[in-house]
Amino acid sequence: MSTDSMSIKDILEWYIWAGVDETVGDEPLSANAPVAAKVAEPRPLPVINAPKKVSDESEERKATTELAQATINACKGAKDICAQVKTIDELRSMVEAFDGCALKLTANKTVFGGGNPQAEIMLIGEAPGADEDRMGIPFVGRSGHLLDKILQAVGFSRENVYITNVLPWRPPGNRTPTTAEVAVCLPFLKRQIELVHPKVIVLLGGSAANALLDNEDPISKLRGKWLDYSTENKDVIPVLATFHPAYLLRNAAQKAKIWSDFLRLKKKISS
Ligand code: URA
Repeated sequence: MSTDSMSIKDILEWYIWAGVDETVGDEPLSANAPVAAKVAEPRPLPVINAPKKVSDESEERKATTELAQATINACKGAKDICAQVKTIDELRSMVEAFDGCALKLTANKTVFGGGNPQAEIMLIGEAPGADEDRMGIPFVGRSGHLLDKILQAVGFSRENVYITNVLPWRPPGNRTPTTAEVAVCLPFLKRQIELVHPKVIVLLGGSAANALLDNEDPISKLRGKWLDYSTENKDVIPVLATFHPAYLLRNAAQKAKIWSDFLRLKKKISS
């Protein structure tokens, strides 16, 4: 049978019948070729993935270094701004104009602090949620309504407090902020504290507590006792950490603890 009259299927079947069931290269090898010639011209083993992997790794390393450098630059930019501003309104305008945090690209509004900038009590949450992002005001959603009720129960209202967040922009889908995002925005929070100069600070939830107190302790360990926060000017402000109202909405059983924390706050302010 000549190959001219054979179909490809016939040829493959013939190969299989003859025991040829594996391909070893693109070029046909003659069984009659001199052995020496075969040994003298070894075909390099096809190494397909290794070089790409090396370049993937170096690309990854380059991207990580660039991101770290961008974060360092953004932190420095934020600190430089904070060193210049003298009033809370100036700080608000500067934060609104700041482009060093990528969260701003996905947020609708910059949510700066709200309430009374002359208040004795400063409340600090984590970051705006969907409602705050829409309105540009902190704590106006479900958590905010619960917070208003708690404040009311101990005799306070929004006029008695200044409310802000660690981050002035909503993380997409309310995800937990990254360490880099917190690091870039923290100078703005610290400057707000200096400019408002409250008598006491209440940290709402673990993220705010860890960011300002610079630790990783769980909120269950931090809450319920007076701690100290030192400003850059070395003023010491008493700080009380407590559960975030959003946590309370999911865990009503913790109501008694948040209630006792706000009574502790009331006592401190009255003293
Ligand atoms: N949760 C926060 O931490 N801050 C807000 O402003 C709203 C919800």
